[in-house]
Amino acid sequence: MACFDRRSFSISLVLTVVCGFSLVSSSSQFQRLHHPAKSDGSLSFLVIGDWGRHGLYNQSEVAFQMGRIGKELDIDFVMSTGDNFYDSGLKGVNDPAFRESFSKIYTDKSLQKPWYSVLGNHDYRGNAKAQLNSRLRSIDPRWFCFRSFILNTGIAEFFFVDTTPFVDNYFTDPDGQIYDWRGIQHRPSYLCSLLKELDMAIKRSTAKWKIVVGHHTIRSIGHHGDTPELIERLLPILKDNDVDFYINGHDHCLERISCVDSRMEFLTSGAGSKAWRGGERRANQCAVHFFYDGQGFMSVQLNSTGAFMAFYDVFGRPRHRWNYVPRHLHFEM
Ligand SMILES: *[C@@H]1O[C@H](CO)[C@@H](O)[C@H](O)[C@H]1NC(C)=O
Ligand SMILES: *[C@@H]1O[C@H](CO)[C@@H](O)[C@H](O)[C@H]1NC(C)=O
Repeated sequence: MACFDRRSFSISLVLTVVCGFSLVSSSSQFQRLHHPAKSDGSLSFLVIGDWGRHGLYNQSEVAFQMGRIGKELDIDFVMSTGDNFYDSGLKGVNDPAFRESFSKIYTDKSLQKPWYSVLGNHDYRGNAKAQLNSRLRSIDPRWFCFRSFILNTGIAEFFFVDTTPFVDNYFTDPDGQIYDWRGIQHRPSYLCSLLKELDMAIKRSTAKWKIVVGHHTIRSIGHHGDTPELIERLLPILKDNDVDFYINGHDHCLERISCVDSRMEFLTSGAGSKAWRGGERRANQCAVHFFYDGQGFMSVQLNSTGAFMAFYDVFGRPRHRWNYVPRHLHFEM
């Protein structure tokens, strides 16, 4: 069900009308966090997704290379695009998988930074609330996982979105899986107010870089492909607000896509462990600049003149590097 119709109304107006005013006064779904950029205004971080498998499927090898590149780039933090613990999230706060698939795997000194994480669909198959519990930080102080949150660094503002509840199949045809929907009792209003708050928060942002992060793909040529629910409901908000990147996991690959209707890039980093899923699809009206089906991760360096990004494979070899200079920065020069 669409929350708004782009053709006839402005997004924010319609979100207000459809969501109603009661939700405006309810507490925000977006936790706000601050992580100041470096003193020269730059920021660097790694992105990993779809990883927690007790080190198996090359998870440990990828972790080792992340440590090496993390040091080289002097990263400020790590970002996880979800599916943090396979196969079914954490069982509880004391689930040993938290240590065995996270603390004991990403051991390099350069990775001892905050890990900003969203939940993926596999995380919802376990005790989703356990991953959100702040008690995990007494086990490993790096762990910052929320359903939806905003991370402000000054130069860049990151909008992390809980994408799993958007996907119809998990509700209508769960294929024998049980999802932990506690906290999302009324799905339509949960999604509606999430979108409305997101739209308002991006509009208010004064950061040079606006980056949205979620677990599910919007555009992908990998195994799962595009996520129609996000194309319909999330994408219009990102385009309307000139978001620079949408960063996701879900497809266990590395890919970079851009489409004809905006300069936004769709970056998949979901290759933290099990990969090689195959199934390269056709891209509709989009250009695929890079696709790699194996394991690896992504690095991002941002400053006032551009974004410098790379995808690395399991050997830490850069497979694809690129610069991105958004239009609004061109105009300032
Ligand atoms: C681990 O990585 C190597 C090198 O890419 C690959 O040959 C091997 O198949 C990978 N193992 C798994 C389980 O994917
Ligand atoms: C931005 O970063 C790039 C690559 O790291 C560097 O070449 C460039 O000089 C930096 N620009 C500023 C203004 O710091």
